[in-house]
Amino acid sequence: MTDQTMSIEVMRYRPEQDKEPWLQSFEVPYSDDMSVLQGLQYIRDYLDGTLAFRWSCRQAICGSCGMMVDGVPKLACKTFLRDYPGKVRIEALNHFPIERDLVVVLDDFIDKLESITPYIVPKEDKPLSEGEYQQTPAQMDWYAQFSGCINCLLCYAACPQYGLNQDFLGPGAIALLHRYNQDSRDGACEQRMELLAAQEGVFNCTAVGYCSEVCPKAVDPANAVNLNKTAVAKDYFLRFARPKGGCK
Ligand code: SF4
Ligand code: FES
Repeated sequence: MTDQTMSIEVMRYRPEQDKEPWLQSFEVPYSDDMSVLQGLQYIRDYLDGTLAFRWSCRQAICGSCGMMVDGVPKLACKTFLRDYPGKVRIEALNHFPIERDLVVVLDDFIDKLESITPYIVPKEDKPLSEGEYQQTPAQMDWYAQFSGCINCLLCYAACPQYGLNQDFLGPGAIALLHRYNQDSRDGACEQRMELLAAQEGVFNCTAVGYCSEVCPKAVDPANAVNLNKTAVAKDYFLRFARPKGGCK
């Protein structure tokens, strides 16, 4: 492999024996093209087979390898050991309960994801014989950026408001909600608007913006939240004039 080694400090937590998480240090040989994920895989394969962490695609697509790297939410497969000369600290994602070592419990986000109706509800059903629901490239541009979300939860780990109040719908779910509300083929905007306007909706956000800084797919969830603060306010007034309010 290589002669150079570095120290990888990893958060450990085994609920059957540990009262609280603790840090364990491993000396790991590395090369310049090795990711943090590969460093963890080396530890698991050669030093301690009990280390638990999630991963799948190894190419920043599946969103499963989110963790704190020197205190910053990162995808382990997209972060390189060479950028942390000598030593790096790996911990479970902030703001989520720990299941084991670097594996966090995702139930809260999954519930939120289900609540936003994360799929297109056709404005009107038509038989297959009438063909596709068509869309122009310009209409696709309205939501394309927000459709890049990979559910990695880095934005939740970065969000101080979610850290204080886990009922907050949060940046990732709001970005995805925006993706569907902006889709010209979708007809479920009104029900999603209720979630945005609720107490735990967009106005819970205090506009820190760190969520967009850490997002590995340039989704810009902070922008989705801000756009929907305006959309909710507009919807409130438009409902006096038309039943669908601000929804098309
Ligand atoms: S918005 Fe970005 S950081 Fe948040 S879950 Fe989606 S891809 Fe991850
Ligand atoms: S392993 Fe899939 S995003 Fe990192």
